[in-house]
Amino acid sequence: MTRTKTDILVLGSGIAGLTFAIKASRLFPDRQILVLTKTVEGESNTRYAQGGVAAVWDLEKDNFEKHIADTLDAGDGLCKTDIVRIVVEEGPERVREIIGWGAHFDKEKGSTEYDLAREGGHSEQRILHYKDLTGWEMQRTLMEEAKKCPNITVSEHCFALDLITQHHLGRMVIRVTPGIECYGCYALNKQNGDIDTILARVTVLCTGGAGQVYKSTTNPVIATGDGVAMAYRAKGRVEGMEFIQFHPTSLYNPAGDNPSFLVSEAVRGFGGILKTAEGEEFMQHYDPRLSLAPRDIVARAIDSEMKKRGTECMYLDCRHLNKEDFLAHFPTIYEKCKSIGIDPMENMIPIVPACHYTCGGVLVDEYGHTSIHRLYAAGECTSTGLHGANRLASNSLLEGMVFAHRVAHDLVGKLDAWELQEGIPDWNAEGTTDPQEMVLITQGLKELREIMSYYVGIVRSNVRLKRALDRLFLLYQETEELYKTTTISPQLMELRNLITVAYLITRSASHRRESRGLHYTTDYPEQLPFVEYSVL
Ligand code: FAD
Ligand code: SIN
Repeated sequence: MTRTKTDILVLGSGIAGLTFAIKASRLFPDRQILVLTKTVEGESNTRYAQGGVAAVWDLEKDNFEKHIADTLDAGDGLCKTDIVRIVVEEGPERVREIIGWGAHFDKEKGSTEYDLAREGGHSEQRILHYKDLTGWEMQRTLMEEAKKCPNITVSEHCFALDLITQHHLGRMVIRVTPGIECYGCYALNKQNGDIDTILARVTVLCTGGAGQVYKSTTNPVIATGDGVAMAYRAKGRVEGMEFIQFHPTSLYNPAGDNPSFLVSEAVRGFGGILKTAEGEEFMQHYDPRLSLAPRDIVARAIDSEMKKRGTECMYLDCRHLNKEDFLAHFPTIYEKCKSIGIDPMENMIPIVPACHYTCGGVLVDEYGHTSIHRLYAAGECTSTGLHGANRLASNSLLEGMVFAHRVAHDLVGKLDAWELQEGIPDWNAEGTTDPQEMVLITQGLKELREIMSYYVGIVRSNVRLKRALDRLFLLYQETEELYKTTTISPQLMELRNLITVAYLITRSASHRRESRGLHYTTDYPEQLPFVEYSVL
């Protein structure tokens, strides 16, 4: 057991965590900032972002009102309009900032102007991108910029287990402290197995998404919803979890990769067309925007066509596109397809929807305050109200940067008043032993992902959700028993967190007695006139 003290504790080193840390470092040069990340610093959802970052850039053609209208339209009546305005209006400044830190975005051939791409649901070309590796480039830039900040320490292979609140102190403190306060976290050092008590004046959750709760996902294996689960266990409010975005076009690979490889929506923005195995277009039966309709509509259309035809996948046809341009824009996608024997210039690309983005999360306000005092959150682990019932493509990197900035500035004038809480006990591992049967954990994970994929996927119904909740309860009980008796391991904690996330998704889905955005149920196919976010 070790004890660590820091001023500012950041959980996560993706776009939200690192942007926040860099900003905090400059606003608080005399304070220590500790960033924990559960594998290596560069591994995050951010790193895999392909399409790019949406921002109003070409003011001759585009404006804030159009980007706001597109975001609201995708969000299907549930976006918080003031938050949409904040992100859209502050976004371009954040993009200019990361460009200033060294991020490259592609320019038009022979020009100094940025090459703006288009994705589903956008009425204008406004996606800045770096080939099909935008996230990689942004992650690289942030890591390099963070290294220039002497008061930032990044601890790799450090797995945050639980937030520390006054519940860890006992009754007296609970009585004198109104509401819940966060004093840091317990974290497992994966290299030596120690559980560290980390005390901080403020904690910022930037732990990303939860795609691994489904069998097929574009999210890397780190995306296990740890932050959402930790906040919920600490009695924080969580919102909008029923809205899970399935990306319409992940590469269908019978070998069953985890994660599934994404074929960016930008490929459709570039002219790629969705087709059946026989080479026929089908999107005209679903939406006048065809292959570039918002994601919820396209994913449901593909799912419905696959079920109707009893096929394992549908296709994306790029054979009519110019090879040289395709290669310049999508070198990674081209290479990946080739590696499994598909030449996008000669064969249609087999695609299938896969879980891609967690629209809901820890409830935050416009400055990233959670419902827990001294706990902020930013990025994909949050529900800010920007995405509503469905996220508009390429709005999330933008949201991560905007909220990271807002959290850092909100701390000015507050941080000094928050003392470290010294009386926190160390992690109690009494009575636990090394796991005898890892299969209980690995099989538990497999079962969980099957439950979610079959019963809480793109199309839902009362009976499926009820079945999922019953199965999840059993898994929950078995896993809690393991947790009480077994030495902590990342696998066990991830399973536990994913079960919590699965419960939150399924419970929120059963509360919503209508179909809206990403939540579609055959029992209530219509929208209700009056809508609210579901808060748990
Ligand atoms: P992440 O980047 O996922 O970072 C989370 C961090 O938290 C990681 O460092 C992780 O290790 C750490 N962490 C998690 N749990 C713990 C724990 N228990 N202890 C310690 N550390 C922990 N969005 C767009 O806007 N445009 C795109 O083009 C785009 N393309 C995408 C393509 C793919 C394949 C994927 C998967 C997503 C894409 N997205 C895109 C979504 C976008 O990438 C993410 O929403 C965004 O990067 C999330 O950033 P984040 O900082 O919140 O989380
Ligand atoms: C993509 O490139 O299709 C992903 C964009 C996003 O998820 O925002």
